[in-house]
Amino acid sequence: MRRPDARRAVFLGLFVVAVGAFAAIVWRTGYNQALDQLARRGQADLTLAADRLTGQLQLYQQLAVLIADHPSLDGDDMAAKRAFLLQSADKTAALDVVLVDERGRVEVSATGSAPANLAGTEYFRRALHGALGEAHGTNSATGQRAYYFAAPRFDDRGQVIGALVVVANIEKVEAEWRGARPVVFFTDRSGEVFITNRSELLYWRRAPEGVGLIPPRGPAPRFETATTGPHEIWHENWSPYVPQAALHLSRELPRIGMRAEALIDVSAAQRIAWLQAAVVAAVCLAFGAILFVVTERRRTLALANTKLEGRVAERTAELSQANAALRREVAERSAAEAALKKAQDDLVQAGKLSALGQMSAGISHELNQPLMAIQQYAENGALFLERGKSGPAAQNLSRIGSMARRMARIIRNLRAFARQESEPVSRVDLVKVVDSALELSEARLRSDAVHVDWDRPTAPVWVTGGEVRLCQVVVNLIGNAVDAMAAHDVQRLDIGIRRDGARVELEVRDTGPGIEEPEKMFDPFYSTKIVGDSEGMGLGLSISYGLVQSFGGVIRGRNHPEGGAVMIVELVAADADEASARPEVA
Ligand SMILES: Nc1ncnc2c1ncn2[C@@H]1O[C@H](COP(=O)(O)OP(=O)(O)OP(=O)(O)O)[C@@H](O)[C@H]1O
Ligand SMILES: [Mg+2]
Repeated sequence: MRRPDARRAVFLGLFVVAVGAFAAIVWRTGYNQALDQLARRGQADLTLAADRLTGQLQLYQQLAVLIADHPSLDGDDMAAKRAFLLQSADKTAALDVVLVDERGRVEVSATGSAPANLAGTEYFRRALHGALGEAHGTNSATGQRAYYFAAPRFDDRGQVIGALVVVANIEKVEAEWRGARPVVFFTDRSGEVFITNRSELLYWRRAPEGVGLIPPRGPAPRFETATTGPHEIWHENWSPYVPQAALHLSRELPRIGMRAEALIDVSAAQRIAWLQAAVVAAVCLAFGAILFVVTERRRTLALANTKLEGRVAERTAELSQANAALRREVAERSAAEAALKKAQDDLVQAGKLSALGQMSAGISHELNQPLMAIQQYAENGALFLERGKSGPAAQNLSRIGSMARRMARIIRNLRAFARQESEPVSRVDLVKVVDSALELSEARLRSDAVHVDWDRPTAPVWVTGGEVRLCQVVVNLIGNAVDAMAAHDVQRLDIGIRRDGARVELEVRDTGPGIEEPEKMFDPFYSTKIVGDSEGMGLGLSISYGLVQSFGGVIRGRNHPEGGAVMIVELVAADADEASARPEVA
């Protein structure tokens, strides 16, 4: 149980790490894409700012070139010259417009703020050489930043006779985009910030390492640089108005000898990248969670299934074992039943043979009598024939025939009785069975002078049973009754058949002493007959009990209130199968 848990924990850990890694990749890609976009827009902004600056400065440059040769500046009327210069300065918002002679001395100045001699300046020297001089600097008198353009003045022969200097107000140029985004600054060749839309960065210098800026005075604030793909990111805290993390862009402006630089806030790009990474991570985690739950559920189900299968297999094995044991038992039972059946059959046969043995004396007497009679009748018949009396002879012959028929009947009955009946139960006429039993017992009945009162029905009474076995039962009952009445004066045997719904009852009543122990009479080997007298084995009734039961009937015995025993054999009526299916009305 512990091992799968540990495995699951490792798997979960790996999954979380994988999601983290994937989110990091998404963040990096998103950030790079956003930076690319920022850089494109920033470059456009930077170009715009640079173009605007150079455009405006160019205006002053052209102004210098244009008015350098203006006729108003020829002649000696200083007041007129000054007025013209002032007018030009006012119209173009220049700080000053100055006329300088070839030695650098200021002839006329529009505002009068120019220093007396410009001979030492680089831009004047360039103008003296006939080129356009340019310079930037801070006016020492006003403290204003200015851009100087010096255009040479030529005489008619093309000799430089002086120069015209236009002083452009940088702050005025700058004023229009102060505070605008992004942060833009222009550094000159010395690396000093000269123009910017963030005044706090003014006069900062490029750091000695070549990247970043340091203030003109005091300690340098925190500054770090990093590269993300092709982009350079500056991290600093120079001012609240300069983004702390910014994309640095730059562009050389050779025309005015400056470099334009911009700092673009990357926090928006970072936010977008974070958002994308967070969404991706959330989706992955949600998907992972669903997958986890589904897998868990499936695992639990599989576990339960395995358990169930195991239990089913166990149960099946137990059942198969029980089944095998049952089969064995059934086989044993069947064998025992077969053995029992065989034993019972043997017993029935033995019972019959025993009855035959008991009857044999009577039977031989029974056969002997007609034989003797036949002999007598034959001799008489021969005498009558010798005497020529054919009438009486024929009479004797017919008597012989009837005697022979009687003998044949007795023998037929004996043969039938001795036969081992093998068929199952069938439809049997009970009247005929009683007739046969009486005939078989006839010798015994006659020798004991028993009076038989057989209330014989005229029509057959059909019952379910085996003919021979049923006959055996009746013979036994008659035998028992004759035995019981042996010592009695009145010897009467009443036999009757009663129909009661689906049942048929055969009643055999005698005038004997009655049954001693009715509850024991059906026990095997129970006999009250002394061995040697009637030689009772005590099997007759127990065999009869089993036979009647096998026909679906019952045999019972009781003592009659007026004396004697009454034996009743209750059988199933064979023509009342349908009636037996109905509830019996008593
Ligand atoms: N009609 C009867 N009157 C009195 N007693 C009877 C009668 N029929 C049976 N019995 C009693 O029941 C006993 C058992 O009868 P059962 O026929 O089983 O054996 P048995 O007649 O003694 O011997 P056998 O095996 O030769 O028939 C008899 O010994 C007798 O005591
Ligand atoms: Mg008997």
